[in-house]
Amino acid sequence: MKAVVLVGGEGTRLRPLTLTTPKPLLPIANVAFLERQLAWLGGHGVDEVVLSLGYLPNAFTEHFSDDRFGDIKLRFVVEHEPLGTAGGIRFAAEGIDERLLVCNGDVLTDLDLGELVRFHAEREAAATIALTRVEDPSAFGVVPTRADGEVVAFVEKPPRHQAPTNWINAGTYVLEPEVIDSIPPRLTVSIERETFPRMLEGPGRLFAMQSGAYWLDIGTPQKYLEAQLDVASGRLGTPPVEGATELAAGVWIQPGATVDPSAFVAGPSVIGVGARIGARARVEASVLGPGTIVGEGANLLRSVVLRGATVAPGARVTDEVVGPEAGLPCG
Ligand code: GTP
Repeated sequence: MKAVVLVGGEGTRLRPLTLTTPKPLLPIANVAFLERQLAWLGGHGVDEVVLSLGYLPNAFTEHFSDDRFGDIKLRFVVEHEPLGTAGGIRFAAEGIDERLLVCNGDVLTDLDLGELVRFHAEREAAATIALTRVEDPSAFGVVPTRADGEVVAFVEKPPRHQAPTNWINAGTYVLEPEVIDSIPPRLTVSIERETFPRMLEGPGRLFAMQSGAYWLDIGTPQKYLEAQLDVASGRLGTPPVEGATELAAGVWIQPGATVDPSAFVAGPSVIGVGARIGARARVEASVLGPGTIVGEGANLLRSVVLRGATVAPGARVTDEVVGPEAGLPCG
């Protein structure tokens, strides 16, 4: 099966990190987010992925320079101006005339895609949206359904206490070609604000499947940090990074990393390739990127140190993503 992954947005809420690295290429526990997403797609039998690019497209073509990821063939399509989520799908799906999976390029999930496609096929749906339940749906597209899953409304970002349900659009869709053909070409169109609501006006067959699978939109500093700690804790499988071994309960260490015998490290943590933890340092629920250094007596709690960054001796870092030049407070 083929999939389109939407990675055209900048991810402004993760600035300054996204000024140089587009959001889907930022690491989640030392593996680029998009690699984790491609591994998930490949694990469900997806064999071709079109990356719908806009912002910093060269970063993607350089990262995947052999146009493959495992068994997946990659194609790159670049928008010269943002076409929105539906416009981006229409542009990326040019020449594809079959059922298509579509994913937002910022959602970490272990949703069972086989189940989603079966749900879609059984109902002979034109489009099926995966739904996830959140406590506060006010920042999302809220999707009430009938018992069989047929969508009855599409309410974008309702005030918290007026939301008809807590089930929200999870950013993963199955679309038949007729839905893609209905999107006007070369125009900026939003699937959540235009295409799906418009399908409800006519006799379109728009369905949605509720899922209790792990789901997290990594697009804010807090969620970006949370995603890393969830992955480090094994919520999406172990080891959290290929080749890592468990040094102590929940502490995963990658090759070439060193921990001073007088340092204290507690899980869930990942210590990246060649990282160094100095004497009497304390690292708890944190991720250290490749080649990072935690100085003597430094104290790290619920934090991420990105490749190339150093935590000075004695520094205290809590709820933060530390880069080589700039940090991202996540508290
Ligand atoms: P913010 O800048 O933080 O709002 O994030 P974003 O630009 O990534 O936007 P948002 O989270 O709303 O987008 C959801 C997904 O769609 C992300 O994976 C985006 O990369 C992608 N996306 C958003 N707009 C476009 C677009 O115009 N074209 C393409 N190809 N993808 C888009």
